[in-house]
Amino acid sequence: MSEPDDLANEPNHCGGSPAQGDYLDRLMRRASFAALWPLFAKATKPAKELTESFSALAHLRPLIRASEPLRVLHIGDGAHARTAALFSLKTRAENISVDPLVNEPLVEAWRTQFEVRRFEWRKSSIEDAALELAQLPPMRTLVTFVHAHVNVDRVLGLLNWHAAFTLACCLPGIQLSATHRIHHSGLDLNVLSAGRSYQVLLPPTG
Ligand SMILES: C[S@@+](CC[C@H](N)C(=O)[O-])C[C@H]1O[C@@H](n2cnc3c(N)ncnc32)[C@H](O)[C@@H]1O
Repeated sequence: MSEPDDLANEPNHCGGSPAQGDYLDRLMRRASFAALWPLFAKATKPAKELTESFSALAHLRPLIRASEPLRVLHIGDGAHARTAALFSLKTRAENISVDPLVNEPLVEAWRTQFEVRRFEWRKSSIEDAALELAQLPPMRTLVTFVHAHVNVDRVLGLLNWHAAFTLACCLPGIQLSATHRIHHSGLDLNVLSAGRSYQVLLPPTG
């Protein structure tokens, strides 16, 4: 996949009326869906997983500036690194998926088959990967936590970052921030799971 989908032509419905099929319609209309499908088809509930990952893209997209180098760290991205995969096809950002459960043979084969660029992973806890990630060349950095089973405030304290998206599931007390500035937040009714509470976070000023 040489070029990402042109997001500039996609309507952003984040602030509009909720329509539960919206994210799936927007994904399935695009040629990139054929590449995404092998990863998502492995899930027990592919539609649910697609909408969770797309929620991160929909809510962070207003913070993605065209033509600016960008890195996106996807924390707790699961065995199949699906949110990193989605961002790799839909944006020009450098994507790094971080999860101790990453299925490396599977994601390597997927990256090769579809010639996906800007898609890496660390088969590691974020705690163990944080130092190496902090030493990467400086770049504007976004972070996603899609139903990640981590303490978001504590993990953000380990990273250099400029905005973050978190979608909570079974551990909202640690998956939602209690300390960071909130750019916007709410219930994303386009997410086809019970865990729909999200926040877009900004780092401390100064
Ligand atoms: C409910 S799964 C969500 C997976 C994926 N985001 C999804 O929506 O399909 C929670 C994930 O958090 C990961 N996780 C737990 N502790 C972690 C840590 N310290 N660093 C990175 N990932 C972690 C688990 O390995 C697991 O894959």
